[in-house]
Amino acid sequence: MFVTREVPKGGLDILRTAPDIERLDINLEDRVLSRQELLARVKGRDGVLSLLTDKIDAEVMDAARGCKVFANFAVGFDNIDIRAATERGILVTNTPGVLTDATADLAWALLFAVARRIVEADRFTREGKFKGWGPMMFLGGDVTGRTLGIVGAGRIGAAVARRSVGFKMTVLYHDPRPNPDMERETGARRVDLDTLLRESDFVSIHTLLNEETRHLIGKRELELMKPTAYLINTSRGPVIDENALVEALRTKRIAGAGLDVYEEEPKLAPGLAELDNAVLLPHIASATFWTRTRMAEMAATNLLAALRGQRPPNLVNPEAWKAGPA
Ligand code: DGY
Repeated sequence: MFVTREVPKGGLDILRTAPDIERLDINLEDRVLSRQELLARVKGRDGVLSLLTDKIDAEVMDAARGCKVFANFAVGFDNIDIRAATERGILVTNTPGVLTDATADLAWALLFAVARRIVEADRFTREGKFKGWGPMMFLGGDVTGRTLGIVGAGRIGAAVARRSVGFKMTVLYHDPRPNPDMERETGARRVDLDTLLRESDFVSIHTLLNEETRHLIGKRELELMKPTAYLINTSRGPVIDENALVEALRTKRIAGAGLDVYEEEPKLAPGLAELDNAVLLPHIASATFWTRTRMAEMAATNLLAALRGQRPPNLVNPEAWKAGPA
């Protein structure tokens, strides 16, 4: 077994104390392995606990010949070529559910931070610029009673919507599938993407990244948004055309953005870091002690199940299992 980077102890303990599993190798350096290192270190492993920063493609799978499972430490698995894994009979797992609340909480933290200009105001205060209360100081966007647009009404999108009830918001959502529970709990209305973009004061992105959602929000979509609206993204960076977003923020085509993810992480699009109307976080939506520990435990449990010939609880490519354990 190979763990590509140290994860919380709860998960590692599960792997360390598995009586039937002999060899465990953990990359204890707190950094992403280079491509060459990853290719070399997956060699001969029966299972790999991977991170969203590891690009697991056909080349890595072939280097890991004989590997039965890639257990991803994330709910997202766009870093793994699922088709290539399935063709090779390799199982892929993820960590759904345990990070729903932490991610929804952070989406709200971003929403408030950007609308109420928390980061700008904090900087201003620390820099000694606060010389007394002012009637025109740091005016921002209202939240209570406004319209929240949820793009992607799965677990996380629905959790974000649920939190809006206390703020008496109108909820719109866009998703290929209806979410009747969310509609019942929040009064949400399912609309097409253009309507959502036109009518929302806050647009929060919660889709998976795939070929259909890449650049779902580009120049055209940003132009549909109200100039007073804010865009929040805690899903995956490439869902938004980041260069188009920089332009929309720079020209005040929209009021602001709160981002936890980027198109080419960890790089930011040119100009983004200079904008006061953007709040930028380093992909920390699931970064709470409890959540990351649960994620590590889930990934370890998935990994061990696959190695023991059992169907892992969070299998994302059941087609690879159809024929039974590899
Ligand atoms: C995920 O799980 O996909 C998040 O982006 C990181 O926790």
